[in-house]
Amino acid sequence: MPDTTEPGSHPPRHARPGPTAADRAALFAAVPRTPGAAKPDPVLVVDGLHRTFGGLKAVDVDHLEIQRSCITGLIGPNGAGKTTLFNLLTGFDRPDTGTWSMDGVSLGGLPPHRVARRGIVRTFQLTKALSKMTVLDNVRLGARHQTGERMAGALLPWTWRGQEREVTARAQELLDRFGLAAKAEDFAGSLSGGQRKLLEMARALMTDPAVVMLDEPMAGVNPALTQSLLGHIKTLRDDGTTVVFVEHDMDVIRDISDWVVVMAQGSVIAEAPPDALASDPAVVDAYLGSHHDQALEFDDEGNPVGATAALADALADAEAQTLEAGGDLSDPDAASVDPSANSLEKP
Ligand SMILES: Nc1ncnc2c1ncn2[C@@H]1O[C@H](COP(=O)(O)OP(=O)(O)OP(=O)(O)O)[C@@H](O)[C@H]1O
Ligand SMILES: [Mg+2]
Repeated sequence: MPDTTEPGSHPPRHARPGPTAADRAALFAAVPRTPGAAKPDPVLVVDGLHRTFGGLKAVDVDHLEIQRSCITGLIGPNGAGKTTLFNLLTGFDRPDTGTWSMDGVSLGGLPPHRVARRGIVRTFQLTKALSKMTVLDNVRLGARHQTGERMAGALLPWTWRGQEREVTARAQELLDRFGLAAKAEDFAGSLSGGQRKLLEMARALMTDPAVVMLDEPMAGVNPALTQSLLGHIKTLRDDGTTVVFVEHDMDVIRDISDWVVVMAQGSVIAEAPPDALASDPAVVDAYLGSHHDQALEFDDEGNPVGATAALADALADAEAQTLEAGGDLSDPDAASVDPSANSLEKP
């Protein structure tokens, strides 16, 4: 039997709008600017969350609270653990240890569709649109755990059809909102990378979630559309939705965030209102590129040491792979280093 009894199965449309800009400023005014700071009304609370890959600490978060009905910007250098944190919180990955909860109810161990049923949805840094399916059907899929599957459609086809009509209407409304209405019957595979991002947003919003976690939603989106996309995200917040937003562009982060959480090497290293980031030494040190002009280091015999040695190794590996693949090292783009593989490279 499908599970219809789970608490929060039907996240209600938000009955009350979120706080005004002045209220949000007041909410955060009393929040200390320290990692793990308590929030006045947290919707999500994370404790002792650890995830390692081999020997690498991908996520190592002692405590984190996400304030309800606000936009929290999540920033940090490549490989800081932002996507892994999203994966853990939404059930796409399992931690080594740790707990996390929504409104005091644990989400630990739930698979993604049950996390979604509790009202938390996420988008992916690399989009997951099904290319052989129409754009409209891709968006309709976002509702799959609300309707057919759970309604035991074969038993109640009339109810199911009514729901199907509602689902289609909502999908069309969302496509319209994100400027994709004209593409509804096209295969998703024909969309540009940016349009797929918009499609993913539309799909995520099908269930009217209480919390949306957006992993670089602007990446690849046509600059002509980014402003309206940001506008839509602010509207979601104003309607009471909690938004967690991963983005590398600091202008966007400053524009959209009510509060910013900074990760580096798996941990939360700073939290602050967006206008205070530039003056936070931990942020400047870890993220804003103070190492860009770090001097290369060599020992007495001219061999690279420390971070310089790591960079040299990464370059040598990349060159070896290029040669193995039959490539030509004289091509300036041929050998590139994975930016997350060394500590010198910053976004
Ligand atoms: N499935 C995996 N297997 C092994 N290592 C992984 C895996 N997923 C992530 N990692 C590693 O965990 C670390 C954190 O990666 P993650 O993708 O969470 O970073 P990020 O902050 O999202 O980076 P970016 O800004 O580049 O998207 C990185 O060192 C990454 O290489
Ligand atoms: Mg990422």
